[in-house]
Amino acid sequence: MSTPRITGKARLAGVLGHPVAHSLSPVLHNYWLERLGVDGAYVPLPVAPDQFVTAVRGLQAAGFRGANVTIPHKQAAFAIADEVDPMARVAGSVNTLVFGEDGRIRGSSTDGFGFLASLEAEGIGIGAVRDRGAALLLGAGGAARSIAAALMERGFSVIVTNRTATRARELVETLSQAWRDHAAGAMPALSTLPWDHPAGVPADVSLLVNTTSLGMAGGPDASWAPDLTGAADHLIVADIVYVPCETPLLKAAAACGLTAIGGLGMLLHQARPGFRAWFGAEAEVDAATVAYVLAALKR
Ligand code: ATR
Repeated sequence: MSTPRITGKARLAGVLGHPVAHSLSPVLHNYWLERLGVDGAYVPLPVAPDQFVTAVRGLQAAGFRGANVTIPHKQAAFAIADEVDPMARVAGSVNTLVFGEDGRIRGSSTDGFGFLASLEAEGIGIGAVRDRGAALLLGAGGAARSIAAALMERGFSVIVTNRTATRARELVETLSQAWRDHAAGAMPALSTLPWDHPAGVPADVSLLVNTTSLGMAGGPDASWAPDLTGAADHLIVADIVYVPCETPLLKAAAACGLTAIGGLGMLLHQARPGFRAWFGAEAEVDAATVAYVLAALKR
C-alpha cells in the first residue's frame, strides 16, 4: 500500500447520515484511496434531518466533490438534486450526490447497481437468471424498491411479498407509476404474494432476495429463515443482510444445494460509482478489499 497523503489539493467526499457512526463507507473509501495513492479523504458527516440542506450547501461551498447519503436522508437527497438518473427516479431515492463545477448537484441511486454487481462478481449471469424465472423480493421498504428498480431495468418479472401486505401492494403501484413516468421500454410484470402463503418458494422463481432485517444480528428475529420447499434447483438466494456474513437464510439455501449470496458484496459494489465520480479512479472489490472491510466489521 502506498503512503497516505492528503495535500492542500485533496479531493473530499463523505457520508451524510443520522446516525453515521456505524457506517463502513469511511473505512472502505479511505482503504481504496490509500491503496490507489489518490490524494483525497472521505469523512463521516453526522447531520440531523433538519440540517440536511444546510449541510449539503456547506459541503458544496467548502469544495467537496460530493457525498454518499444514508438513513434517513435518501429522500431529502432526491429532493435536493438538480438532476437524478432514471434509476433513482424509479427507486425514489438517492444515495450518491456529485457536486458539479457548474454548481449543479447530480443524484443517483447505486444500491440496485451494487446488488446486481455483487451477483455478477460471483459469476452469476443476470440475463440467464432472468430467462429462467421471476425475482421474489421479501420486504417492501427502501432497499426493496431500489433492488426492484434495478431488476426491472434488467427485464425481470418481480414478485413482492411483505409482512404488511398493503406495503407490498403500495410498492408495486409506486414502481409501476415510476416506471411509466421515467423508464424506457415495456414494463416487466409486477405482482404480490401473501407473506404467509403456504407453499414455500414458487417453482418459477429464479432469484429470491431478502431485503428485510430478518436474520440480522440484533434485528427483529436473528434466527429467521423462510421455508425453501418447492424451490427450483437453480434458485439463487441473496440476502442484503451482512451481519452475520452467513445468515440463517443463506445457511438454509446452501443446505438445499442452492447458490447463496450474502449482503457484503452489495455494500462494497454500491460504493464504486461514487468513488469514480469524486476521486477519478476505479475502485476494485477484490479479496483484499473484502478481507479489510470484514476485519473492520469485527472491530
Ligand atoms: P429499508 O428502507 O432499509 O428497506 P424499512 O422501510 O424499515 O427499511 O423496511 C424494513 C422491511 O423489513 C419491511 O419490509 C418490514 O416489513 P413491514 O413492512 O411489515 O414492517 C420488514 N420487517 C421488519 N421486521 C419484520 C418482522 N419481524 N417480520 C417480517 N418482516 C419484517
